[in-house]
Formats: sequence, C-alpha cells, structure tokens
Amino acid sequence: MNQIFALLKLLGFSRAIKMKQRHDEANPILRGYVTTNAVWALLNTGIMDELIQGAVLDPKTAAEKKHLSEEVLEALFHYLFCVDILAKQGKAYVLGPKGKRLMEEPKGSFHLLYGYEPIFKQLQEMLKNEKVYGKDILRRDEFVARGSGELCEQLPYQVMRQMIQEAGINKVLDLGCGNGQFLAHLATHLDAAYEGFGIDISKEAVDEAHSHLQSLGLKDKIRVEQADMFQLKQFPQGWPEIEVITAIDVFHEYLYTGNERIAGLFKQFKQYFPNTALLVGEFCEQTEERLKSIGSSFVEHHFFHALSKQRIVPAEVWRQMFHDAGYKIEKEQVFDLVGHGYFLLR
Ligand SMILES: C[S@@+](CC[C@H](N)C(=O)[O-])C[C@H]1O[C@@H](n2cnc3c(N)ncnc32)[C@H](O)[C@@H]1O
Repeated sequence: MNQIFALLKLLGFSRAIKMKQRHDEANPILRGYVTTNAVWALLNTGIMDELIQGAVLDPKTAAEKKHLSEEVLEALFHYLFCVDILAKQGKAYVLGPKGKRLMEEPKGSFHLLYGYEPIFKQLQEMLKNEKVYGKDILRRDEFVARGSGELCEQLPYQVMRQMIQEAGINKVLDLGCGNGQFLAHLATHLDAAYEGFGIDISKEAVDEAHSHLQSLGLKDKIRVEQADMFQLKQFPQGWPEIEVITAIDVFHEYLYTGNERIAGLFKQFKQYFPNTALLVGEFCEQTEERLKSIGSSFVEHHFFHALSKQRIVPAEVWRQMFHDAGYKIEKEQVFDLVGHGYFLLR
C-alpha cells in the first residue's frame, strides 16, 4: 500500500491512473503477439500435441527427448504458465483449462495464421515496396491446408455434406482440397457407395492431405493428386463419372485482378461437365461495420487476404457469376454472421 501511495505522490493521481489505463489497453495487444508465437513454437515441435494428449512435462526431460533447447523451453513453459495457458504439477507443466480450450476449435486458427505468418514477418518490407507477395513472399501452403481443414470441419463441411446427402450424391471431386479433410468428412458420413477424389495445385498441400488421410486410415479410399483446376483436360485420368464438383474457399484466391478468370472457369465447368452439379463454399464479404462490431478473427482473415492478393466479394457477386455461367441455384445458405455462403448449382 505504501508503494502505491509513493507512486501516486510521485506521478500525481490523475497521471498515474491514466498511465495505468493506457498500459492496460496495450498489454492484451502485445500479449497476443507473444503468446501466439509461443504457442506456434510448441505446436511446431510436437510439444503441444503431447500436452494435448495429457502429458505432464518437465522442461529438462522434454527438451532432451526432442533435442530442443532446455533454456528456451523452460522460458516458454514459464511464460505460458504466467498467461494461464499452462498449469503446474509440482515442477512439471500440463495444459491448463484455458490452454485446453484454445487447442479445441481455435487450434485451426493458430495453424491458418501460421500459414500466413511470412506476410506479417515481412510486412514492413512489403509496405516499403522492397518485397512483393507472390514473388518474394509466399504463404505456407501446408499450414493453410491444415488450418483450413480444421476450421471448415466446424461448419462448412457440415452444411455442404447435408446438401450432398439430400441430393443423393455419391461421387465427389473436390477442387483445392487442401488437407483432404472435406473428403474425409464425407467418408465418415456417407454410405459405402461414396467415392472421393481431390486435387490441389500445391505439392505441400497434397503431401499434407496424403499424411492426414493416412493418419485417418482413409488413404486407400480417397484419391488426392496434384493438379490445377484451370487445366480441366489434365485432370487425372481413370476417375469415374463425378456427380458433384465441390470447392471450398478456393475461387476467391483468383479474384484479385477481377472476376473474369473465375467467371470463365465456371463457364468451362458448365461446358465440360454439363450434368455435374457444382457445390461452392465461399467467403462472402462483410461490411466494415460488421467486421468492427463482431470482434471475430474474420477481421484478421480479411486483412491477410488483402495482403496476399486475394479478394473476398459479396454473396451477390457470386450469384451473378453463377448465373452468367448458366448455373441455377438449387440450394443456398449464406451465414452473414460468419461471412460464408454455400451454393448448390446445376
Ligand atoms: C483456403 S485453402 C482451402 C482448402 C480446402 N478446400 C479446405 O476446405 O480446407 C485453398 C486451397 O486451394 C488450393 N488451390 C489454389 N489454387 C488452385 C488451383 N488452381 N487448382 C487447385 N487447387 C488450388 C490451394 O493450394 C489451397 O490448398
């Protein structure tokens, strides 16, 4: 108490209160940066997986086992304990209640943001025109695939699977399939007649899909290959007749310079696969007012898309492109709350 009085006397009451309030406002911002980096370090070294599985880890043994720096791991554990993500058992550490919650649904957000971390690390160079996204800086495709799969499992895959089930569809080709989680999701919900195929342009994403499907025991049931969705003629041969072409959060990656390329692709789909349904899950632009008011990570999502030459457009623009390509909307569900829309087209 004496120390508080001494400080108030030294600084003056009103100045001391204002100073404290301003630091209190800045701290969560700074802490978000540091904590996110600390969580990434544990996620990317396999330490977090052990903690998620309930391990009780002392930094010395855990560091030795994984050939990590004991000093750095000790500092990481201590910091994450102080910010309530880890808890202590004696001198060892476990995942605390908050850490457990963060490693449920939000885990995908940590992975997705790590996919875009190269941008944030080099934001100043981008700002000063010293580096350009796409030329000097690239996202990490395997983490985008992993994070996207983990996040989409929470809503988009459920909505799209329901549309597929209601339409009685069994043979699915997923464009830009990322880590293959949508095809895996379908495998666990559709009957034995289901056949899933996926393509992705990124080798890292395809590798991630193969190891993910392997870990789920689905590698033999679902075929994923590296291919470009714009090269329809190069689609892997020997695939049976596809009943639906699906694409989740892929097309918006090509709207940066205008809608023509994707609008043209829709027209080609209609021409090459006239009897195949097209099921699109896409981001729909949210207004600045909504982004400011909802306080979700969509603000960051819109931000790193803007920095990586991607463009998110309103639902109305998607509808127009579908219409111009000759598609009719058979079913539609747009969730303004999360800025995502689902369109089953014929
Ligand atoms: C945001 S991720 C979405 C991944 C996945 N659809 C999901 O549900 O999580 C976009 C994916 O599209 C892939 N992609 C981008 N352009 C592509 C193209 N021309 N052909 C095939 N895949 C492409 C990317 O490599 C990336 O894996």
